[in-house]
Amino acid sequence: LNNSRRLRFAILGSGRGSNAVALADACLAGEIAGTIVTVLSDVPAAGILERARERGIHADAFDPGPFRTKLADASEALVIRRLREARADYVLLAGFMRILRGEFLRAFSQRILNIHPSLLPSFPGLNAWQQALDHGVKITGCTVHVVNECIDGGPILGQAAVPVLDGDTAATLHSRIQKAEHGLYPSVVGALARGDISIEGRRARGFRAVPSIDFGP
Ligand code: GAR
Repeated sequence: LNNSRRLRFAILGSGRGSNAVALADACLAGEIAGTIVTVLSDVPAAGILERARERGIHADAFDPGPFRTKLADASEALVIRRLREARADYVLLAGFMRILRGEFLRAFSQRILNIHPSLLPSFPGLNAWQQALDHGVKITGCTVHVVNECIDGGPILGQAAVPVLDGDTAATLHSRIQKAEHGLYPSVVGALARGDISIEGRRARGFRAVPSIDFGP
């Protein structure tokens, strides 16, 4: 993960797009030495497309095919083609709710990142903030990791910790985690774009965790 030029990032997302906004704004502010070249979504009505277009970023929906949790082969091939046409160096998953499989992972090997709303390896999978509440942990957070064939299990690039408070509901905890995500994701991608992050096996170096994000009341 050594980069000396301005990187080209594509974002895939299925939801509101608050992380995409944080990443796009960090690029515009020069905190990430890179450009968001396209935003693609499997959900035509997803806010992420509108948020991107408002910022003048190319954004488009694609048909994911008949499955709920993965992309059909033809859809996967189409997305890979779009990403290559956009000359994306890295693919940033920001609330993309489908599993990427072999063909896609091979096309962008070590060049797909994801943000997950827990301190992995705790609480992989869906609704990680609800899993944290159900388990009764006192600290949770968010993780930026490399995407590989192991779901939510690729090398960890950066993490931020978030407290669980007594009165928390799923909504209040998720919103506190998201605030931390909006700081973490751009910081990690910024470090990556500076060429500061290196990976040896499972261990990535070059990013210092920020344990103090939003520990206030
Ligand atoms: C984020 O909280 C992200 O961590 C989560 O979806 C949300 C998307 O919000 N991703 C996952 O749960 C992946 N398994 P956004 O659309 O506002 O960025």
